[in-house]
Amino acid sequence: MAETQKQTVTVGVTGASGAILAQKTLVLLEEDPRVARVHLVVSEAGQRLFAEEMGIPSGDLKQLPSRILGHPVAKIDVLPNKDVGASIASGSYAVDSMVVIPCSMGTLGAIAGGISDDLVARAADVMLKEGRKLVLCVRDTPFNRVHLENMLRAQQAGAGIMPTVPAFYHQPKTIDDLVTQYVCRVLAQIGLSQDKMYRWMGTPASKKAEA
Ligand SMILES: Cc1cc2nc3c(=O)[nH]c(=O)nc-3n(C[C@H](O)[C@H](O)[C@H](O)COP(=O)(O)O)c2cc1C
Repeated sequence: MAETQKQTVTVGVTGASGAILAQKTLVLLEEDPRVARVHLVVSEAGQRLFAEEMGIPSGDLKQLPSRILGHPVAKIDVLPNKDVGASIASGSYAVDSMVVIPCSMGTLGAIAGGISDDLVARAADVMLKEGRKLVLCVRDTPFNRVHLENMLRAQQAGAGIMPTVPAFYHQPKTIDDLVTQYVCRVLAQIGLSQDKMYRWMGTPASKKAEA
């Protein structure tokens, strides 16, 4: 596959529960031959969630991707969330798609309101204005009216809204089964369908007859 055909993906990680979803996303993108580069932006609260939920300390930001994956990385570079002048803050820089995983209600509100005062929100704003693929993996429960209205607003502006809701039809046995299926569905949304993804093929006729 020619280098030019490979994707550049931005991954935003914010301070909602579900750091393990961000970790799985980065693992799958790092090993995907269709991906050339991953720009990772982690909000301050996102770094806190990596520490709280996964025991991954903040420390030197440059080394964060290798701490998250547990080994050196080749494709993932990390950008400071305060750097609103980074490459991905401009529409002239070619990014194919962006996923915010998990996406806090705060960052959802910033994106829905067009408030680009950090790099996650600005990069997402750029994706929308350029008509590029943006997926927001929103997480909270229950949702209040502001959250729901912000989701609608972001969706109407072009974002895909994928609440971090696991599926059970593939009969998951482990947390990794739940996480992998969800993240595979997210990556399919940005044109990176994974072989690992379970695909529902309907209930076999024999089982229907038994029912
Ligand atoms: C342990 C922990 C869990 C949290 N879980 C959520 C959550 O699931 N959803 C959410 O919207 N905010 C959650 N928050 C609050 C956000 O981290 C907070 O609103 C933060 O300001 C979001 O900032 P960010 O969008 O820049 O990451 C959590 C905070 C902590 C410390």
